Amino acid sequence: MDAEITVTELTADLVPSVVQLCQQALDLPEDAAEAASIVDVLWPRAADRPVVGLGAYRGADLVGALICSMSSAEPGIGHVDLVAVLPDQRRQGVGRALLRRAERVLAERGATEVLLAGNPPYYAWPGIDVRYTPAVCAALAIGYQQDRTAWNMTADLSYDGSPALRSTEAGERRLAGQGVTVRRAEPADLPALTAFARSTFGGTWDGELAGSVGRADAGCHLAERDGEVLGFAAYGSSRPSWFGPMGTAPAAEGSGIGGVLLRRCLRDQRAAGLDRAEIGWVGPVPFYSGSAGARIERVFFLYRRVLPTT
Ligand SMILES: CC(C)(COP(=O)(O)OP(=O)(O)OC[C@H]1O[C@@H](n2cnc3c(N)ncnc32)[C@H](O)[C@@H]1OP(=O)(O)O)[C@@H](O)C(=O)NCCC(=O)NCCS
Repeated sequence: MDAEITVTELTADLVPSVVQLCQQALDLPEDAAEAASIVDVLWPRAADRPVVGLGAYRGADLVGALICSMSSAEPGIGHVDLVAVLPDQRRQGVGRALLRRAERVLAERGATEVLLAGNPPYYAWPGIDVRYTPAVCAALAIGYQQDRTAWNMTADLSYDGSPALRSTEAGERRLAGQGVTVRRAEPADLPALTAFARSTFGGTWDGELAGSVGRADAGCHLAERDGEVLGFAAYGSSRPSWFGPMGTAPAAEGSGIGGVLLRRCLRDQRAAGLDRAEIGWVGPVPFYSGSAGARIERVFFLYRRVLPTT
């Protein structure tokens, strides 16, 4: 008979085993291929907030893993950032055991509600990709309710004439005529960039900016006038193939800054060898469609469950 399943908290030295498991257990090839980045962003890099890794073992074998964290923005909210079970171990209660344990771990840290949804700024998905249909079924079976939908857009970088790779030269010339300079952001720009993002959008983009400016597989471009930041666009902070976040000062909207910054990033991502970029957790669909010919592709359901009080 098969050995019983035991669920234990994992120490950070087990990150490589979790990566290996995810390479086999994430059914979508684009996720399996980025398993190392996904686990890194959710666990070692998210060290500014409580994060717990859980492993499900059958005997000595790791057959499932889960990463969960507390929200740094909303007290009382816990997140399940990742759950994966090896294909030949499914439908035997492993996912349920991991989720129930995660709920207890998060409750001990003050959670009254648990979200199956990304916990910005360190997230790998906004929620459950609808094509992970077994996960959608499991979420419902385990008592979660769908509350929101989110989507990514895909920019095609696979051929020279793609609208995503349209030249930014004319746009940059027009902006220069208005005294606006566009350039790659350097580490020395980080304080001004984070101050701009915070004061303009109020927010949690510090981590994503720090994770993109001057880092391998990532980058950021900015627009400025007289030393004042007017906009930025970043890529690669959560996953190498993902674009975002970006933002333009409301007073500068409509001047073409956003499209130029976006396509500068996409050009970098293509130069790094990518044939597509995922514009993550998208807001303005018409902007990305118009500026880069991007299409809505990945769609995510977000779930939540109020924990029972005992
Ligand atoms: C989602 C996942 C973790 C579920 O793991 P699991 O160990 O198979 O889950 P369980 O056996 O505990 O299933 C719990 C319940 O969910 C439902 N369920 C799970 N898989 C299902 C499926 N393929 N079809 C219908 N219902 C399903 C069932 O109600 C099941 O209970 P039952 O088997 O008693 O009927 C697993 O399918 C997986 O690793 N998928 C790939 C990774 C993924 O999608 N992760 C989520 C995105 S990060």
